[in-house]
Amino acid sequence: SHRPTICYRPIQPSDLEVLERLHADIFPIRYEEEFFQNVVHARDIVSWAAVDRSRPNGHSDELIGFVTARIVLAKETEIGDLLIYDPLKPDQTLVYILTLGVVETYRNLGIARSLIRQVIKYASSIPTCHAVYLHVISYNIPAIHLYKKMSFKCIRRLQGFYLINDQHYDSFLFVYYVNGG
Ligand code: ACO
Repeated sequence: SHRPTICYRPIQPSDLEVLERLHADIFPIRYEEEFFQNVVHARDIVSWAAVDRSRPNGHSDELIGFVTARIVLAKETEIGDLLIYDPLKPDQTLVYILTLGVVETYRNLGIARSLIRQVIKYASSIPTCHAVYLHVISYNIPAIHLYKKMSFKCIRRLQGFYLINDQHYDSFLFVYYVNGG
């Protein structure tokens, strides 16, 4: 097997088809076409792609991993109460991670960790931003390990948060504080 040369870049319109295929392959949840359009056109969404520059035959710019996120107003989220609300700063924000995935053959190489680092770096660069947060389904051991290892704090278990094929599943809410929380 070859030695990958992983690079990170924003997701762009030419990624649409692969992005949709990877989401369909990797997640048990279906995403709307509008979501993918918003990602590739960076409408209210920030994203990073991982690509393997050493792949031959025109695949060297094809997504092998991705993370998508959105900036939200802290007071409009379920964890707004966790931050000390300052009426002088009503514009406090959070970065919410929507989706994160790595193609199976590229797992356990630290790619997800690097993608999350990009999100944390980005959130830290926004002065109004106080945390990065996300939901993960309670049975997803690899993802839970990853977030714990990266010092995310699990602050809540949400009963029946996900509905998949008429089955309810709990989720964990993980938070990583930036800019002093
Ligand atoms: N079992 C236990 N721990 C794991 C596993 C695993 N299978 N995979 C990753 N980890 C942990 C390890 O602690 C690892 O640290 P280490 O290298 O020091 O041991 C750490 O995570 C970082 O691992 P990476 O190599 O960066 O993770 P990878 O690139 O393999 O991607 C991911 C992990 C994204 C969870 C991948 O398995 C995947 O795509 N899974 C399917 C989609 C998914 O579950 N996405 C996250 C859903 S939550 C959300 O989207 C908000």
